[in-house]
Amino acid sequence: MKKSQVAVVGSTGRMGGELLRLLRDHDHLEFSVGVARSAVAHLDKTVLSLEKANPKNIDIVIDFSLAEAADEVLDWCLKNKKPLVCGTTGVTDTTKINFIKAGKQIPVLWSPNMSLGIAILNKIISQLPRIEGFDFQIEEVHHAQKKDRPSGTALLLQETLESRIGKNLPSPVSVRGGGVFGIHRLHIMGTEETLMFEHNALSRGLFAKGALVAATWMIGKPPGYYQMSDVLVGL
Ligand SMILES: NC(=O)c1ccc[n+]([C@@H]2O[C@H](COP(=O)([O-])OP(=O)(O)OC[C@H]3O[C@@H](n4cnc5c(N)ncnc54)[C@H](OP(=O)(O)O)[C@@H]3O)[C@@H](O)[C@H]2O)c1
Repeated sequence: MKKSQVAVVGSTGRMGGELLRLLRDHDHLEFSVGVARSAVAHLDKTVLSLEKANPKNIDIVIDFSLAEAADEVLDWCLKNKKPLVCGTTGVTDTTKINFIKAGKQIPVLWSPNMSLGIAILNKIISQLPRIEGFDFQIEEVHHAQKKDRPSGTALLLQETLESRIGKNLPSPVSVRGGGVFGIHRLHIMGTEETLMFEHNALSRGLFAKGALVAATWMIGKPPGYYQMSDVLVGL
């Protein structure tokens, strides 16, 4: 069976590198073209913008680049009727609305975290008992190069928590340093006892694998705005 052809936006970055590595011997997907601003002639199959790519050679777009690129990538997918899996964080609220609107025309999945563990943690938070007398704090730790803070994942967990608890809570605390792939903690603190939930990403490949699971799942799906929880074991 012919493998589905994947365009990777941000192909020269840390996540792009993981995606290209995993696509080398993927059962259902194949790397077709990469997109990066610094694309140079010696980088095989890499172009400066999706506009320079041939839509006929692309079945799905996976974007792990920068927030500034997100709307342009989405526009290209809409124009060419291609599904989009976007893992880029730090996107504006307007872009998030654009993703949801685009779901009326093409399959779109945007998630600030493509791991199963965070999908599970988010689900647990959405079902917390409505306890009184406790303080809540989300904390995130990431490598020193991470550009956005708080992380998109911390904001996702915060939104779920606030909607479950029914009030505004202190903003997530961000720590930056070293090569940490991503740690997210939910502290629940009472005067006599504390609870903590932690998710620790042990490799960057974890997120790339999740994106490829999502991309494989998206091929052939009807238009819609999808979540990782739709993809991962029907959470
Ligand atoms: N959802 C998740 O599970 C998850 C997990 C990890 C990371 N992320 C997110 O994924 C994104 C990428 O992370 P990273 O660590 O790989 O970053 P990175 O190493 O800085 O790589 C960014 C990539 O995007 C390219 N790029 C930047 N602006 C672009 C534009 N306008 N058009 C096309 N390409 C552009 C860069 O190449 P040039 O500089 O040459 O353009 C580079 O290839 C970040 O938003 C990060 O927070 C998400």
